This record gives sequence, structure tokens and C-alpha cells, in this order.
Amino acid sequence: MIIAIDGPAGAGKGTLARRLAKAFDLAYLDTGLLYRAVGMHVVEMGSDPADPAAAIHAARHLELASLDSPRLRDEIAADAASKVAAIPDVRDALLAFQRDFAGNPPSPYKGAVLDGRDIGTVVCPHADLKLFVTATADERARRRTLELQAKGIDAIQDRILADMLARDERDRDRKVAPLASAKDAIVLDTTELDADMVFDRAVAHLRQVLERNAG
Ligand code: DC
Repeated sequence: MIIAIDGPAGAGKGTLARRLAKAFDLAYLDTGLLYRAVGMHVVEMGSDPADPAAAIHAARHLELASLDSPRLRDEIAADAASKVAAIPDVRDALLAFQRDFAGNPPSPYKGAVLDGRDIGTVVCPHADLKLFVTATADERARRRTLELQAKGIDAIQDRILADMLARDERDRDRKVAPLASAKDAIVLDTTELDADMVFDRAVAHLRQVLERNAG
């Protein structure tokens, strides 16, 4: 069982992916963390995340242990991630790991949930269930601002919105594996939905897949 969840930042992908993984006993991979770790590594080396040579080197030498760093959650990492993610060889360097995680999830799991931007289109085009989770930019910025403020970070919603729009544009307009809904993905617009409602809808779709697979 492979579940692919794509969508822009702040739409609720991560929350949904974690809940599905827990409820259905699946391994979970937040693929954005891979790009964040590469971006942060480049920044920490004093290089520009948009510099292909530095970013490709970081992607080819990515240490999985570095995915645990809390710094990867901050806005510097998010910005650097969206820059390194536009470099084709960086994406290539991360592809095998993601596909291997989906196809051979860590024991004892027998399936996986991956979330990102290109899971249903590129990483796992044969996923059993593809969800494209989205929401208006204003709502996504509002949620992200509340999330940062809850962590004690002094976040300003207009700033968050502007940064988010810039990143969305970079993610959507890049030439390789842009943020896009796969043709066979189910679109979940979460603007008016809370996390429980999103989860319930996703579970209803997943149950249909399980019934289809069983029959
Ligand atoms: O989901 P996130 O905010 O952690 O992602 C950070 C950046 O990484 C985002 O700007 C787009 C990029 N990304 C990507 O290009 N492909 C993925 N599968 C996941 C993330």
C-alpha cells in the first residue's frame, strides 16, 4: 500500500499523512525534509542554495541523521529548500531514496505514506491512493502563522503569506517535477475543513481502495 500526498505548503498534508500512517500502520516519509536538509546544509556551508554545484554536492552526501534537526522546520530552511528543489540533479539525487522507502518501507511496515510536491506525479506514479491537498493561500498563511506563534516565534501573517506565495510560485513553475496534482489524484480542498474532517474524507477514499484491492 502506497499513499501519495501532494500539495502546497500549509494545506495540511503533513498532519493528514501522519494520521493516516498511524491509523493504517504505514511508514511515513516527509519528503520536504530531504529538500530542507539539503538546503540547510548549503546555507550552513556559507553557499547560496540556488548554486547548483553546492546543492548537488549536498544532495549526494545527504546524511539521513540530519533529518532530525529542529532547525529544518524554520523559514530559512523552507526558503533554501524551495531553491535547491528547483535544481534537476538535486531531485535526481533524492529520487532513489524516496522510491526505495515507498517500495521497501522500514520493517515492520508493509506500506508507506509519502508527502511532498511530486509524489503522485514522479516519485510514486503507481501509488494505490493519490491525494492532492490544497487550501487558499490566505488560509494556509493563517495556519502557518498560528503554528509559528504557538512555538513562541514572532510571526507576521502578511510576511508569511508573501514568502509562501513566492515559494509556491517557485515550486509550481520549475521545469522539473513541479508542484502539480496527478491526473488520477483526489483533490481535497481543506480551506473550510478541520483536520478531523480531512482525515475522515481521506479514510473514506482509502477504504474504497482497500475494498477494490481485496476484491
Ligand atoms: O513540504 P515542505 O514545506 O517541507 O517542502 C519544502 C520545499 O521542498 C518546498 O518548497 C518544495 C520542496 N519539495 C519538493 O520540491 N518536492 C517534494 N517532494 C517535497 C518538497
